[in-house]
Amino acid sequence: MPVNGSAELVIVANRLPVDRDDGTGEWRVSPGGLVTALEPIMRANEGIWVGWPGGTDADVTPFEYDGMTLDPVALSAQEIEGFYEGFSNATIWPLYHDLVAKPEFHREWWDRYVDVNRRFAERAADRAAKDATVWIQDYQLQLVPQLLRELRPDLRIGFFLHIPFPPAELFQQLPWRRQLLEGLLGADLIGFQLPGGAANFVRLVRQRVGHKTHRDLVYLPDGRTVRAASFPISIDYEAFEDLARSEPVKDRAASVRKALGDPDTVFLGIDRLDYTKGIYARLRAFSELIRDGELDVDHTVFVQVATPSREKVEEYRVLRDEIDRLVGHINGDLGRIGRPAISYLHSSYPREEMAALYRAADVMVVTPYRDGMNLVAKEYVACRWDDDGALVLSEFAGSAAELRQAWQVNPYDLNGMKAALLDAARAEPRDRQRRMRAMRKTVRQADVAAWATAFLDELDKVRPPHGKKLKPTPTS
Ligand code: F6P
Repeated sequence: MPVNGSAELVIVANRLPVDRDDGTGEWRVSPGGLVTALEPIMRANEGIWVGWPGGTDADVTPFEYDGMTLDPVALSAQEIEGFYEGFSNATIWPLYHDLVAKPEFHREWWDRYVDVNRRFAERAADRAAKDATVWIQDYQLQLVPQLLRELRPDLRIGFFLHIPFPPAELFQQLPWRRQLLEGLLGADLIGFQLPGGAANFVRLVRQRVGHKTHRDLVYLPDGRTVRAASFPISIDYEAFEDLARSEPVKDRAASVRKALGDPDTVFLGIDRLDYTKGIYARLRAFSELIRDGELDVDHTVFVQVATPSREKVEEYRVLRDEIDRLVGHINGDLGRIGRPAISYLHSSYPREEMAALYRAADVMVVTPYRDGMNLVAKEYVACRWDDDGALVLSEFAGSAAELRQAWQVNPYDLNGMKAALLDAARAEPRDRQRRMRAMRKTVRQADVAAWATAFLDELDKVRPPHGKKLKPTPTS
């Protein structure tokens, strides 16, 4: 297909699946599961991906990358500030994550959000073939379904929200609550991570927009039916397991442990540096265990990787300073020469290095205050091919619904967290293996390809057939 043609499948996401390498300026696939999930079905249908390439890049003509057609949407510095840093990440993000930080409401941010959503909708309308399927991703683009339907009523439109959808009591603070609900209702199928998010949405539509609803269906006055249902996202299980079994990753895991001084127990946290992730409380819990004499820095270390994120947003800058200070205090007070209590890395790493870290860790600690899913927890499980390793997991992560055998914790309960860290570290091998085996089975059976297929199959059912079906994901 020519790069400027139209397609039977269009993915619309805030970001393209590639970003530019800072050093060489070359495009490379961004880390993250979405591209892995959608790549096969994109290829089978010669799909187009519409998204922001990051930065204020002026060179934004459509291009081919590794068999996919990518159509970049340029954002100005002002739009990045109002739409991305502002409304998406300082209004919606904290509001949808249980107000872990206080959301800011600014009318100028909202105006930029509307402008940019319109631009994405117009681009998708240009690139979709007649009766095509358009799948819109995430909270940055909640108005696109409605805007797109106004332009192209022939399309089959799906929307998937990767982050939690909050209860009515929180959502209704939003001055533009009705517009957002109506924006989403432009889709035929709205996917959420958990059934609770879908139920929150349907309840809000009934209360605030006044449409008739029945279970997970919304009946619109124009005769359309919209379905709101849960589709928990996952990872490419096989790819992670294969990587973790590869010789380079095994070697690297061994050298990581050696570099850490061959401790008995390695705890690991890997997160975007985000206030929803609970990094501060988790490190405090660990440091108290050392102070209490339950753990010993000569034999234990906590490796915390914090990937830089949204660094221009004030709350994220404050968090970075807080974590820097806390790690400094803990290591200053409790570390010994060559034995820091916490090995802190403010950096992002390629998949191979992540797999090596997962292999090197005895206890993976994932303790967000609220998280849509948390794929790090699933990646850890996929990499533990020997069935060993322990997972401490917040009950407020979406993945807790599936990973029932983890040591589940309430991240607000510091003593509970301390007890879980100790239990996980001291568990009998048989107990760890029993739990890990069960979790591995769960993730293996519901991988990311199954997620994409389930969503697109359901979209086919909700929207009455018009004779055009997507080609299914090819099986290897
Ligand atoms: O968790 C939601 C999410 O949008 C992910 O899909 C994405 O990997 C992450 O946040 C990073 O966000 P940003 O695009 O702001 O860097």
